[in-house]
Amino acid sequence: MPKMYVIGNWKMHGSKITNCRLIEGILSKLPILTKVDVAICPPFPYLQQTSDKLFRRPILLGAQDLSCAKEGAYTGEVSGDMLRDLKTRFVLVGHSERRAMHNESDQVVANKFAAALEADLIPVLCVGETLEQREAGHAEQVIAEQVSAVINAVGVEALSKGIIAYEPVWAIGSGKTATPLQAQHIHAFIRGLVREHNEAIGSDLSILYGGSVNADNAATLFGQPDINGGLIGGASLKADSFVSICLAAN
Ligand code: G3H
Repeated sequence: MPKMYVIGNWKMHGSKITNCRLIEGILSKLPILTKVDVAICPPFPYLQQTSDKLFRRPILLGAQDLSCAKEGAYTGEVSGDMLRDLKTRFVLVGHSERRAMHNESDQVVANKFAAALEADLIPVLCVGETLEQREAGHAEQVIAEQVSAVINAVGVEALSKGIIAYEPVWAIGSGKTATPLQAQHIHAFIRGLVREHNEAIGSDLSILYGGSVNADNAATLFGQPDINGGLIGGASLKADSFVSICLAAN
């Protein structure tokens, strides 16, 4: 059975004061969850603060990106080992905002996936189609290319050490969530693709949905057979809504 996860991606939001309030708010409202692992991904400058506040608490730490390289003359980059040093467990790779704004190709994303594994981090591979690609009937092809690039680079056994997050680009931050059936269709497609390489790995792989998940729609989305939790943007910035989403996954 795939494990359930709820991962909050704060993107470029927060300050020391607001982070403190948000983390304390979540911790005070979140009961012990038995079925779902919860993580939050603050911006890089707040990883240490968040790591300290989460010490011995039931929420794990994630980062939003990492360098392909291990160390060296890469100004502005952050390595997997540095993230690990701060007790980070998860790292997003290939978020659509990075693919679109930083020209991250499928190959770069595959290299980041490999770098995350090398640093003993759990990579969360983000995939998803734009509205244009969906309307042209190319959603499955785009997603197959994004997933296959990683399988071809690292192998399906290595893929099984990570998580996939399906985030239709048109649903991110737009308030237009994919319907549960639209999301389920693509999740089943991704699982089928991985199963073609290895039946057991495909069956056990956690595939999260992301894109305008909120406290009201989370339970229906997470109730779909191939949706194993969520990658949450905007709704992870409010303690009440984030906790409700975590409870919906449990
Ligand atoms: O990483 C999170 C996703 O991009 C979803 O963002 O929940 O604000 O739509 P959102």
